[in-house]
Amino acid sequence: MSAAQIFDLTGQVALVTGASSGLGERFAEVLAANGADVVLVARRAERLAAVTERIKSGRRAISVAADVRDTAAMKRAFDAAEKQIGTVTILVNNAGIAHSARAIELKEEDWRRVLATNLDAVFFWAQEAARRMLAAGKGGSIVNIASVLGFSPDKGVAAYAAAKAGVIQLTKALALELSFKGVRVNAIAPGWITTEINRDYLASERGSAMKRQIPIGRFGEVRDLDGPLLLLVSDAGRYMTGTTVIADGGQLAALHV
Ligand SMILES: NC(=O)c1ccc[n+]([C@@H]2O[C@H](COP(=O)([O-])OP(=O)(O)OC[C@H]3O[C@@H](n4cnc5c(N)ncnc54)[C@H](OP(=O)(O)O)[C@@H]3O)[C@@H](O)[C@H]2O)c1
Repeated sequence: MSAAQIFDLTGQVALVTGASSGLGERFAEVLAANGADVVLVARRAERLAAVTERIKSGRRAISVAADVRDTAAMKRAFDAAEKQIGTVTILVNNAGIAHSARAIELKEEDWRRVLATNLDAVFFWAQEAARRMLAAGKGGSIVNIASVLGFSPDKGVAAYAAAKAGVIQLTKALALELSFKGVRVNAIAPGWITTEINRDYLASERGSAMKRQIPIGRFGEVRDLDGPLLLLVSDAGRYMTGTTVIADGGQLAALHV
């Protein structure tokens, strides 16, 4: 089979959360470029609509403004996908926020906001996607976006690291229950990829020091995750489930994790 065939996503309907910027915007673009129809979800409606407009060339692409923490809005997003395109067969659980604070200073509302966005929502969107795939008699692929911080935390990111570790474990737990029904569940753990979430931090003095810990010698670019994503959602990854693909320029290897 040729590479083009094995990675072809024609006939798939992919829903990407957090598609208004950064990794999610790129994921939606790459999925569409490889044949999928796409549903883009995030809160900033105007920005989301602009991204959708840009990537729809020959593919069906719709945007649905929703907060991933709102399960009623989540159901509306899946309904809109089904009505306008079809059953979602690829879910990329990408929406996420960062929050930095030392543990003893971390406010309850910030802990809850990070966990609700980065972990609770990942579960509820995966659950809803799987329910609908199975109800439609279809298989599918769910990809959760974790982080190297889910394997190896740093100071000042207790909530974020705990949520991302939860995503890695949740990915395995869901795979155990869903894989034999035809729904594969995997995760990607990116290292430092320059996006809005961290642009200022990575450009700081501390960021420059961090770059020296990365064996490949640079921070990641959004396109560095094209391959891992396509592997997990396409036929190329048909025997992969319950796994977390690390794409970090060797950062974790250097930490002996
Ligand atoms: N960049 C990195 O170095 C890195 C490394 C490891 C993991 N990650 C993970 O990768 C994912 C994407 O991050 P990014 O770097 O691309 O950051 P980003 O550019 O800030 O993008 C985050 C996306 O999530 C959306 N989002 C945030 N809260 C939301 C909510 N409550 N409801 C709906 N959408 C929400 C944002 O859209 P709206 O504001 O429009 O809602 C935005 O589209 C996150 O899960 C992040 O933790 C990133």
